[in-house]
Amino acid sequence: MERVTAGKECLRFSVTERSSFLEEVLHGLRQEQKVLPCKYLYDARGSQLFEEICELDEYYPTRTELAIMNRSVDEMAAQIGEEVLLIEYGSGSGRKTRLLLDSLRAPTGYVPIDISGEMLAESAAVIENRYPDLTVSPICADYLSPVEIPSMDKPVRRRIVYFPGSTIGNFEPPEALEFLTRMVKQVGAGGGLLIGVDLRKDPAELERAYDDAEGVTANFNLNLLERINRELKADFAVEAFSHVAVWVRDLGRVEMRLVCNVACEVTIGGQVIGFRAGEYIHTENAYKYDVSEFESLAVKAGLSPRAVWTDTAEKFSVHYFAVSDDSC
Ligand code: AVI
Repeated sequence: MERVTAGKECLRFSVTERSSFLEEVLHGLRQEQKVLPCKYLYDARGSQLFEEICELDEYYPTRTELAIMNRSVDEMAAQIGEEVLLIEYGSGSGRKTRLLLDSLRAPTGYVPIDISGEMLAESAAVIENRYPDLTVSPICADYLSPVEIPSMDKPVRRRIVYFPGSTIGNFEPPEALEFLTRMVKQVGAGGGLLIGVDLRKDPAELERAYDDAEGVTANFNLNLLERINRELKADFAVEAFSHVAVWVRDLGRVEMRLVCNVACEVTIGGQVIGFRAGEYIHTENAYKYDVSEFESLAVKAGLSPRAVWTDTAEKFSVHYFAVSDDSC
């Protein structure tokens, strides 16, 4: 895989990327159940809207995870140990990362991995300024693909992946297993994983979290159609679509959908796609786990549960896993 260091390079949307965006969009919209890949929700506008979602009253995960970190970060640091190389999936200039780095004993290095070069460069600069003794090595890449971790000049006792925010919930369970298994290989023997995982709860609370009163999540979802119009010269009548969030109990996930309210046709890359009135495009899944259910998944990936922290209302969990002795 091509690795690019932080900078504007990652911001360019190359011809190959545009054609694969087009192919994926057309492929998804030709399915019996129309679907669009959720990774495309995060262009500059989508990322900005996601930041706003994180501040909403209804969207409890961000503040709940932060509260858990505030209360228990010293216990987390004790589990993780000293002189570690911290690898973060997603660029973490945020409060959770700083809380963790403040509590870790003599961390050796910090490797944030993110697809957005601009965000990565900004967050790496914040961390470098704040922790002058820490070797910060940002990698601009898609953390879903194999990424080579740079070696450090100073001793590293173990590698730790930090994956907050319950982003693992946006993966299908088999993909989550594959991802955790790859992560085990990346940290190797003696390594660990600190991960935020949202928990199952009252469906009404879940649906509110993904369909807020102000309509920020609706705009986030609808921005995907606007992005397709902008970047692929398509002609979605965006006002004909409405955002809905549905808890699907049997699958243990919230589904974000865009419902088409009137029969219409859309032209994308010269191809015409028809929509029936009431038909929807499935744009994102957010799986919710019980603590034991997530632990079972992690065990299959070669991890041993070491500790789990939750808030008192048991809305959200932060797990620490060590790589199992027999898995490397
Ligand atoms: C990024 N991810 C963890 C968010 C979630 O809660 O699944 C994405 C999101 N979609 C709508 N609201 C938030």
